[in-house]
Amino acid sequence: LDELDHLVGPRVKALILNTPHNPTGAVYSEEIIREIFSMCEKHDVIIISDEVYSRQVSPGKTFFSPSTIDFCKERVFVVHSLSKTFGLTGWRIGVLTGPDSLMPSIQLAAEAMLSCVPPFIQVAAAVALQRMNDSANNWVDKIEVRKKRFYQDLDALEALDLQQSDGTFYCFGRLVAPSLSAIDVANQLLESSHVAVVPGDHFGTLGEGYLRFALTTSDQDCLIGAQRISRFFDSKLS
Ligand SMILES: Cc1ncc(COP(=O)(O)O)c(C=O)c1O
Repeated sequence: LDELDHLVGPRVKALILNTPHNPTGAVYSEEIIREIFSMCEKHDVIIISDEVYSRQVSPGKTFFSPSTIDFCKERVFVVHSLSKTFGLTGWRIGVLTGPDSLMPSIQLAAEAMLSCVPPFIQVAAAVALQRMNDSANNWVDKIEVRKKRFYQDLDALEALDLQQSDGTFYCFGRLVAPSLSAIDVANQLLESSHVAVVPGDHFGTLGEGYLRFALTTSDQDCLIGAQRISRFFDSKLS
């Protein structure tokens, strides 16, 4: 947090906060969020809180939104999407909540960029929201089971150190003593094993040497994927 505090100069207008986090699956505690809020208050910086994974939190972990502090009246914008909670990835429908004083500018930008949401997406969104609790909870439960299984299946791999994921449907793993870059591993996994993963480099330099796995396909395909990943790394080490 000190490091972040030092980085906020006079030209910084907004901070993008994403918890639960893509790609690591990290979930920030209430304490840290409150500290970040205070820091933004000190520098008069807006917080754009990307909460698209807020319903995807592992049991025992709690999601905390900075909007709980100012109710989106002062400096917090909340970005929500239906794509993660309801499996509507790619349908591009969501909600933005923010301070009244800044909304006219946002509306202008939205009007220019989006115009309106296609009708079939509106219908799908309405159905998802009407069945909100059932569909969202089922999806979260499913992901938890998948995640647990994925960790078990890859636990014995020496070449990959899977980090704990407390939220989202992602698992983030560090390549141990890599002889290949994460980009090469991702390309080879795709070409030789037909498993698509994202190299951490795509999220910035801090992601170098990591791979992101998205458990968004069926249980059976996740299982097959884990087997192929294991075989891939075994063949690299033998
Ligand atoms: C953190 C985060 N925010 C926003 C989005 C975009 O969501 P949508 O599919 O609704 O455009 C994604 C999608 O991957 C994401 O990971």
